[in-house]
Amino acid sequence: MRKFCVVILAAGEGKRMKSGIPKVLHKVGGKPMVSRVVDAAKSMSADRIIVVVGRHAPEIREALDKKVELVCQSKPLGTADAVKAAKSMIPPDAKDVIVLYGDTPLIEATTIEALYDFHIEEDASCTVLTTFLDNPGGYGRVLRDDAGKFIGIVEEKEADFTQKTIKEINTGMYCFKRDDLLAELDFVGSLNRSGEFYLTDVFSQLFGKNKKIAAFQTRDGFGVLGVNSRFELLQARQIFQRRILEKHLDAGVDIMDTTTIFIDETAKIGAGTKIFPFTYIEKNVIIGKNCSIGPYCHLRENAVLKNGVSVGNFSEIKNSTLGDGTFMRHMSYLGDAEVGKGVNIGAGAVVANFDGKVKHKTVIKDHAFIGCDAVLIAPVVIGKNAVVGAGSVVTKRHDVAPGSIVVGMPAREIKAKKSNSSQKGGR
Ligand code: UD1
Ligand code: CA
Repeated sequence: MRKFCVVILAAGEGKRMKSGIPKVLHKVGGKPMVSRVVDAAKSMSADRIIVVVGRHAPEIREALDKKVELVCQSKPLGTADAVKAAKSMIPPDAKDVIVLYGDTPLIEATTIEALYDFHIEEDASCTVLTTFLDNPGGYGRVLRDDAGKFIGIVEEKEADFTQKTIKEINTGMYCFKRDDLLAELDFVGSLNRSGEFYLTDVFSQLFGKNKKIAAFQTRDGFGVLGVNSRFELLQARQIFQRRILEKHLDAGVDIMDTTTIFIDETAKIGAGTKIFPFTYIEKNVIIGKNCSIGPYCHLRENAVLKNGVSVGNFSEIKNSTLGDGTFMRHMSYLGDAEVGKGVNIGAGAVVANFDGKVKHKTVIKDHAFIGCDAVLIAPVVIGKNAVVGAGSVVTKRHDVAPGSIVVGMPAREIKAKKSNSSQKGGR
């Protein structure tokens, strides 16, 4: 395979975000936008990945993988100037340079790969990735002659009335033959409405020199969204979330709503599980098959729910495991807890895992029954088949023996249960 390197531009000011942090560090799906672009580049086995940064270099360095190389553009004078800043780092043996923008967080590696394959096939001097948008406002427009041949890109600011009606846009992703790109960069001027050095001018320059310029159209208009404002950031987040929901729907998860359910991309959910509206599922959550989650449920980092678990209204679970068939239907909190199979956690029951300094673990063994409004003060172990009465407070280290019944504040044993059968009532 021929050698190529990837240059990701991330030095712009992003003024329209009106933000204290650099634009490309705003997160989509919990990850900075620029990291998403880097991830796409990484999966393409590029020879080198160079990110062009500006005055926010330290923050961006912090956010990115140490293997990614950074180069500084001293002033944000435009996209052509940004590529120029990376010039000395582009390896001499790289045949092509793929340029991406750090503010297109939804881009998928497959799209860039398709662009690159097309570029090689066409043996073009440079190839731009384009798409059609109903609302092309803000993007550079693709210019074609009467025969439909691609002849260049005009920025929105420079576009005349007719050009503004063009719906084919520049996504900001390109492949260049290294030598042609480097030869042209010095000739890009800034005599335009923004006074910036536009990378897009390289296309018309090469066209003027009878070099082959190509345009590759993608139908994934969502995947190429460029984020320049808070509104576009919100749009990117919604599209990203929709993709996650679609993935789970395809895997047999029953999702009841698209607008109020948030699922982190790292979460795993088994088939047949129902997710009701207003549910928030965070990082590394694992949910088994045939569970029922929500409405109004918050599963925080590292919550693990085995098969057939039912978690309902206003329940919050963090860093805890719930065994098969366990129920926690109403207004409960579990943090740092290990809960066995067939446990019933009554309405309003909580574990108090934090003593003000340290977080402690709570263990609730199989088939225990935790009454409504009970408080379990960690560290504590509730034995198998034990019952904690409604409103009881089990104080720390006062473990409840298997099969026993405790009530009161502090909880005291009243009697051992007659049989060790599993608890079913109170749901
Ligand atoms: C750019 C394209 C436009 C395209 C759109 C797609 C140019 C001239 N225009 O416009 O045709 O439709 O992207 O999203 O390229 N950057 C730097 N240094 C700079 C300026 C920008 O690194 O001096 C970086 C920014 O951080 C950003 C990217 O380049 O990640 C694009 O810059 P931006 O100002 O957002 O360009 P657009 O106006 O969106
Ligand atoms: Ca942009």
